[in-house]
Amino acid sequence: MTHPDPRAAVKSLAPYVPGRPIEEIEREFGVTGAMKLASNENPLGPSPMALAAAHEALASVHRYPDGSATLLRRKLAAKFGVSPDQIILGAGASELIDITVRTFLEPGLAAVFPAGIFRMFPVAVGRSGARIIEVPVEPDLRPNLQGMLSAITPATRIVAIANPNNPTGAYVPRTELAEFLEKLPPHVLMILDEAYFEFATGLVADYPNGLSFVSSERPLVVLRTFSKISGLAGLRLGYGFGPESIIASMNKVREPFNANSIAQAAALAALDDEDHRNRVRELVSTERAFLFAELTKRPVAVHPSIGNFLLVETGGTFDAVANDFLRRGVILRPMGSWGYPLGFRVSVGLHEENVRFLEVLDELITLGIVIPAASASSPAAR
Ligand SMILES: Cc1ncc(COP(=O)(O)O)c(C=O)c1O
Repeated sequence: MTHPDPRAAVKSLAPYVPGRPIEEIEREFGVTGAMKLASNENPLGPSPMALAAAHEALASVHRYPDGSATLLRRKLAAKFGVSPDQIILGAGASELIDITVRTFLEPGLAAVFPAGIFRMFPVAVGRSGARIIEVPVEPDLRPNLQGMLSAITPATRIVAIANPNNPTGAYVPRTELAEFLEKLPPHVLMILDEAYFEFATGLVADYPNGLSFVSSERPLVVLRTFSKISGLAGLRLGYGFGPESIIASMNKVREPFNANSIAQAAALAALDDEDHRNRVRELVSTERAFLFAELTKRPVAVHPSIGNFLLVETGGTFDAVANDFLRRGVILRPMGSWGYPLGFRVSVGLHEENVRFLEVLDELITLGIVIPAASASSPAAR
């Protein structure tokens, strides 16, 4: 029996490969107590207030959610000093990347990205059938902003920067971002992905707040998420800010009930729990510094990061040894398909998880399974 052919864009699409779940690894490798440091999740989990609100919302799941998420958009608008009409919700920031792409791109048009941008960007553009132009990054892995501007043509409709990027952890500072936005031609929409905003703001002196650049005159959409700082990744809720006219167009593309009722209730409560957010920020910044310092003592190259993760490179193909970590119950994210064949990304976990990861790394280096990087411990080793 023959089946209809998918669209050409779908046939050639390399799908997004998510981090592997704990249960699957435990089953496959016969281990218990596996720890997942593969998806930049929140090691402390959600706020108890968000959990309680989610439980309460369960009783009403026979009702459709509020399709316009009125209360949540109002609350976000008040918190961030914008109008509710400047806010759109998505099933994670990932869906908002997709909605933006579907609103602005089609075959014949193009998107310009820094090479190695968070993989959902090329996946979303790949699905749309538009062209992807990836501009090589600077030696310190920051985007080459001048190169991106030069790559823009009349067919370009979207440029994007993840600030910081996943997996590199590198970011564009405030002044450079402001200059870049000034130079963008008006036919191009900029997506500024700030999924890790709360791990950096107020802690990294020149880290910009993308929201301060949102205005009715500028085609800029800023994305944030409840997945990271609020620990609600499983409920799938992200939000975007932009000019009202752009948000209105994106709302036409959005599925009406994309933000589910449990997620909306949990997010409303999470926004009230400042203490929880502060605890998460504190833990991530302390543990990221610990992991970074420990990794620099070992024969690997570790890249500075302002997110809740670190990109680490070894001297051999990492995909070949990922299973050796899994067998020992440590789930990392191999970065071969993200353009770093020698590398893996490790999410910042609880202290005991980070220690366990380092122990397993040491064991595998001693066994000669993880190959030392040629000259270790700094990005210059690349
Ligand atoms: C840079 C970046 N943007 C967006 C996302 C998507 O997050 P979510 O769809 O869970 O909101 C991620 C997730 O890892 C990310 O790393």
